[in-house]
Amino acid sequence: MNNCSDLSLIVSQYDPRQVFVVIDSALELCPDYKNQNYSDISELVNITSGFPTLCLQAKEMNKTLKTVEQIWNFLFDNHATRKALLINIGGGIICDLGGFAAATYKRGIDYVNIPTTLLSMSDAAWGGKTGFNYRGMKNVIGIIRQPKATLIFPSWLDTLSEQEKLSGYAEIIKCGLLKDSTTFHTILRALEDRDYENGIAVAVEVKQSVVREDPNEQSLRKVLNLGHSVGHAIEELGIRNASGAKYTQGVIPHGYAVLYGLVAMAYLSHILLGLDRRIVTTLSHIMVEYYGRMPFQCKDYKEIINLMYCDKKNEHEGEIRMVLLRHIGEPVTDQIVHEEELMESLEYLFSL
Ligand SMILES: NC(=O)c1ccc[n+]([C@@H]2O[C@H](COP(=O)([O-])OP(=O)(O)OC[C@H]3O[C@@H](n4cnc5c(N)ncnc54)[C@H](O)[C@@H]3O)[C@@H](O)[C@H]2O)c1
Repeated sequence: MNNCSDLSLIVSQYDPRQVFVVIDSALELCPDYKNQNYSDISELVNITSGFPTLCLQAKEMNKTLKTVEQIWNFLFDNHATRKALLINIGGGIICDLGGFAAATYKRGIDYVNIPTTLLSMSDAAWGGKTGFNYRGMKNVIGIIRQPKATLIFPSWLDTLSEQEKLSGYAEIIKCGLLKDSTTFHTILRALEDRDYENGIAVAVEVKQSVVREDPNEQSLRKVLNLGHSVGHAIEELGIRNASGAKYTQGVIPHGYAVLYGLVAMAYLSHILLGLDRRIVTTLSHIMVEYYGRMPFQCKDYKEIINLMYCDKKNEHEGEIRMVLLRHIGEPVTDQIVHEEELMESLEYLFSL
């Protein structure tokens, strides 16, 4: 967890006329942010308020090239040079978009992420993956460039909806599955107590240790995609159909899709690699109890599978590769999964 002197120290290394801020407009409008009820956030506001600021609506539908252009134009209009610093304040959408704009502006300027959602504190703001959605596909245009720093201020979580906290918690559950059985069960107990904050450190530790070893996803980093093959397809279908009326953004939150993806992954891991059936049952219980059923119908199976063929993680056309689990803490990458097996896992998911 950070304090504002960490940000002051970073900012002091730049010409103050060359520091820029991109912020989620929901935070700009948020009364707690404006009223400065929290000392760390109020100090953050003091530090950043003098810099040119661009407010963006953080919606998955806006995670587009057009919004990236808005950030590039903001930088050009304010005469940002190659020595500029961009500070991204927001959830995963702002960090991904701001990070991409920074990574490509004049061949790359420094950026700092200040994540404001549980999902971005525990996952999206770390590891340097940046990008946007294109032709209806999630994050298919992007680049890896590490942020200069990621600064965590947990007070942001106080204004976050329960739905957004659960969305973030799915990535923490994923990290528990990647780490070990004790951590996984501790994370699930914390969920029962609605103690969301403690999982951040575990998730960051898991992600950073993997990213340090394989920053460009040549091999090991693929494990972080656990649950994301089915998850991204579900999320994309949600964006295309806008079939998530029950969610605040109108589309399925990223973490919900990841959680559904984790259940499908566990089912496939059970039938293909012999993962203990109890893990499938535990994850299914978590899904039903906290995340609810998927807002799709059986007729959508085929579309989900078609979307999986377009997943950027597949290395050869016409095949679907996924990360599966042999045991908790033992992921296996590049597992080819056939359509019939996927269909079976989706049928299981829909049966819950
Ligand atoms: N780069 C990566 O490694 C990586 C990893 C995981 C996810 N992602 C991406 O992250 C995105 C999802 O991130 P997210 O869930 O943070 O989404 P988000 O940025 O859309 O934030 C979710 C919602 O919470 C609001 N919000 C943000 N901070 C708030 C606060 N403190 N209080 C109240 N409301 C607040 C936002 O306005 C938005 O409506 C997806 O686009 C996903 O692809 C990227």
